[in-house]
Amino acid sequence: MSAAPKSKWAEDDAETEAIIGQRKREKEAKKRAKAERQRKQEEEAQRLAAQRRDTERSIAPEEQAEDGVNGDSERPTKRRRLSPEPEGQAEVQPKPARLLRFAAPEWGPCRHVDNFERLNHIEEGSYGWVSRAKETSTGQIVALKKLKMEYAQDGFPVTGLREIQTLLEARHTNIVRLREVVMGDSMDDVFLVMDFVEHDMKTLLDDMREPFLPSETKTLLLQIISATEFLHSHWIMHRDLKTSNLLMNNRGEIKVADFGMARYYGDPPPKLTQLVVTLWYRSPELLLGAEKYGPEIDMWSIGCIFGELLTKEPLLQGKNEVDQLSKIFALTGPPTNQTWPSFRSLPNAKSLRLPPLGPLSTSSSPTVPLLPRAKFPYLTTAGLTLLSNLLALNPASRPTAAACLSHPYFREDPKPKAKEMFPTFPSKAGMEKRRKRETPEAPKRGAEAPRLDFADVFGGDIAESEAGAGFSLRLG
Ligand SMILES: Nc1ncnc2c1ncn2[C@@H]1O[C@H](COP(=O)(O)OP(=O)(O)OP(=O)(O)O)[C@@H](O)[C@H]1O
Ligand SMILES: [Mg+2]
Repeated sequence: MSAAPKSKWAEDDAETEAIIGQRKREKEAKKRAKAERQRKQEEEAQRLAAQRRDTERSIAPEEQAEDGVNGDSERPTKRRRLSPEPEGQAEVQPKPARLLRFAAPEWGPCRHVDNFERLNHIEEGSYGWVSRAKETSTGQIVALKKLKMEYAQDGFPVTGLREIQTLLEARHTNIVRLREVVMGDSMDDVFLVMDFVEHDMKTLLDDMREPFLPSETKTLLLQIISATEFLHSHWIMHRDLKTSNLLMNNRGEIKVADFGMARYYGDPPPKLTQLVVTLWYRSPELLLGAEKYGPEIDMWSIGCIFGELLTKEPLLQGKNEVDQLSKIFALTGPPTNQTWPSFRSLPNAKSLRLPPLGPLSTSSSPTVPLLPRAKFPYLTTAGLTLLSNLLALNPASRPTAAACLSHPYFREDPKPKAKEMFPTFPSKAGMEKRRKRETPEAPKRGAEAPRLDFADVFGGDIAESEAGAGFSLRLG
């Protein structure tokens, strides 16, 4: 290494050179001391910051956990970090404990009904007006049901609330889908927005020349029972199953609708209103004034619907409650201590004068006698057994929906028809004209069940009553 060039004015003596070397060394020592001081200051600042963070964490750990703060910044913040963490800066902290969170139904403002353009009126029922409509933004066709508010004593009608609550829970392929609830200009304008379904079973049966084929009847019945099984397994009774509340699309799919009467029940069943289910589909225990009843009332209605699918005519068309009960007994035979041991304890059964036991109803009769074969000539024995069991007078003898699904009737030939093979029908609901109805209405909610006198249900002799004619009827 060559020596540094010297200044031409530099004095060339060793003493001067020693002084210069000494100054250089002093300068370098000062530099090192300054760097050391700076390093110490930085270390102290970092220690203080860490101390402050620790104190803040120990004061409000849950608050920070809820806000998802990771503790990586010096300043406590309630805002979530949106940008990714700069690499290497994230401190590895033990994760704070978090509360379990469950998805809860969201409450939010309802949309306005103006989002839908009404196309045509479909039907006015007891609890609402139903129209076909188009969602303007998507062009999708829906059914809009405007709830009738006349039954609301105090604010919102209980039928509407139950309908919304139960329909929201009842998500099943055979139950009509409630898409949303929308509002009009006033609090009285509440609309249910549902999937539009082309037909209802009542109108369809009225328009068909022949009843459904046995294979079609099985497919339809299976779907109705599946929907009911789903409802009952969720502790919901429909309480108004009837053909006008069964919708059917052009792909052979059934959608159970009209949850205005539906409600949750428990075990044991609570005391409930007796005035439920449209008369023709109402079970004998309801007619006899049972205050405690259960999902068996829906199974009775399904029996009535089964009969209607077979013959195209409603099975039991009573003119009033007394007439209804007499028509039921004419079909099934009167109750006996054998078939329905507890019926005498029902409120309206006190006045019931039963005919003497005929030759067919001895004490050794089966608990559920078969219905007269002549009434259902094309039904197999398995089919007649299922129908008879559904229409058992004693609710305890009726099969559950789950039991029905595995009944031999659905496994024997002819097998249930594939839904895709179902015929299609022109939709009445897509037309302008409103339909006229001759069927009884659903019961008025909140109305008291009438006190009934069934003394004359068996006004004639048993032969006469089995023919279903000639009763003298009297409403108490
Ligand atoms: N989603 C839908 N798609 C097509 N039509 C429908 C739909 N919902 C209901 N309807 C039609 O409107 C009719 C009345 O509807 P719904 O039964 O819900 O009203 P309601 O006032 O409770 O009736 P009711 O008391 O007479 O049984 C049904 O029988 C059916 O014809
Ligand atoms: Mg209805």
